[in-house]
Amino acid sequence: MDEKTLWDKKYRERSHSSLEPDPFLVSAYDEFLSGSAPGFALDVAGGVGRHSIWLAQRGWRVKLLDVSEVGIKQAKENAKSTGTASSISFEVRDLNVVQDLGREQYDLIVVFFFLQRELFPALAAAIKPGGLMILETPNPENLLVGSCNFYLDPTHKNPIPMATLRLLVEARGFLCEEVVKLHAINAEKIEVKDQLTSHVNHYLYGPMNYAIVARKPKAE
Ligand SMILES: C[S@@+](CC[C@H](N)C(=O)[O-])C[C@H]1O[C@@H](n2cnc3c(N)ncnc32)[C@H](O)[C@@H]1O
Repeated sequence: MDEKTLWDKKYRERSHSSLEPDPFLVSAYDEFLSGSAPGFALDVAGGVGRHSIWLAQRGWRVKLLDVSEVGIKQAKENAKSTGTASSISFEVRDLNVVQDLGREQYDLIVVFFFLQRELFPALAAAIKPGGLMILETPNPENLLVGSCNFYLDPTHKNPIPMATLRLLVEARGFLCEEVVKLHAINAEKIEVKDQLTSHVNHYLYGPMNYAIVARKPKAE
């Protein structure tokens, strides 16, 4: 099944329909962006628009790209009902074949739960010097995520270890402002009796996702 067919089906069934922003976007925004004027943001694979809408409510202009026509249709309806439609533009686009996202256009790029390595050159070119990129993705260091849960989406190919993503980001000249592991399953953890249970807890119930905030240096 291709990504468009899968995500059209999920969105038709009203899966992934929440408009709650990811808590990491909220905390990264507070830390890195709340002091600066809103600008132009790109929401990569933005789904039904939760992050575009949240940013638009803070004065940003946003462009949302996604392969799912059904997702984009719902994102447009969501933007309308939240009064943010005039701040967001929408485009159905298959980011597996996109080579060009423009040059130095965006002050902020957000990529939540859609990461593919080949898109990096286009993302790096599209962001303005001094601009910020916020990425969140599954953490394969959690063995259940890396061996099973990541593949529950049949279109997923390979998870990216945190060190690899950091390397990719830094190799493009970005400075990592924050690298953080998120969403440990604390409720499932075994009472720690020895080093073994501590390792089991870490690799089975440790952080399921991680996030990176990276800045493109200003031109000299
Ligand atoms: C897990 S959802 C995340 C949506 C959004 N970023 C969020 O956090 O709410 C993954 C998104 O990636 C989109 N997607 C999957 N493959 C894609 C592709 N090849 N090009 C563009 N979007 C794609 C899906 O349609 C879906 O909206």
